[in-house]
Amino acid sequence: MTLTNGHSTLQADSETATAYQPLSSIWEGSDSGLLDAMLKFYPTIDPDPILDATYNTGRIWRGSSRVVVSMDIDPQYEPMIVADNRTMVGVPDNEFGTVVYDPPHVGPQGRDKSVKRFDVDFGATMECGKEHGWTLSYLYPPFLEQAKRVLKPDGLLLAKITDMVNSHRSRWAHCDFMRMAEDAGFTVCDLIIKVRTGPMRSTKWKTAHHARKRHCFWIICRNGTSCERGH
Ligand SMILES: C[S@@+](CC[C@H](N)C(=O)[O-])C[C@H]1O[C@@H](n2cnc3c(N)ncnc32)[C@H](O)[C@@H]1O
Repeated sequence: MTLTNGHSTLQADSETATAYQPLSSIWEGSDSGLLDAMLKFYPTIDPDPILDATYNTGRIWRGSSRVVVSMDIDPQYEPMIVADNRTMVGVPDNEFGTVVYDPPHVGPQGRDKSVKRFDVDFGATMECGKEHGWTLSYLYPPFLEQAKRVLKPDGLLLAKITDMVNSHRSRWAHCDFMRMAEDAGFTVCDLIIKVRTGPMRSTKWKTAHHARKRHCFWIICRNGTSCERGH
């Protein structure tokens, strides 16, 4: 648009202001609200079909009208696809507009099972001991390879990652994930802090030396070399 006078400038600014719907880098609402906002804000191609590669009971979709293809390694959740997302056997290449990933973010919590079904409810069933450097980040590279394979070019990968303290040290899973996603050929486009209402608790913890986490990260990656539309 060619601007010829002050009036036109004002009009152009107000047009831009109504067209632009900002997305806050801090989200205090539900996962489903944030997913919906991200699925409107970031796509450069049709975000459907959507694969949720760690479906569990699909809590993050509660209240959403999105149609999702569900995958989980654990058949008890009766996902549409029972599969290990590190191999995704039988899933075709270039199939999805979006892959959503909410992997386990703590290892098995021993006695908690008898108090609150922590392991089952949070999918905290994968090994997270010394042989894995006390983190679950070893799960990411084989998953990322598969996510890249099943995503269409420029498709989105939306990952919910929570840092953890394990064996008396902070383990920065979100840094691992972002580095590994870039290594796998994704562009890490953005990072949103999602605030949770109450922290996860374990009856095993008698004292604290690290801040009680009341947030996680949603990491937005694109299966391509560009961060934004048209670049
Ligand atoms: C944190 S929970 C996901 C919660 C889910 N987003 C929800 O809203 O209900 C992690 C899930 O990942 C699944 N999982 C763990 N490793 C997996 C793998 N290698 N392949 C597929 N699913 C896996 C677990 O069985 C568990 O159900």
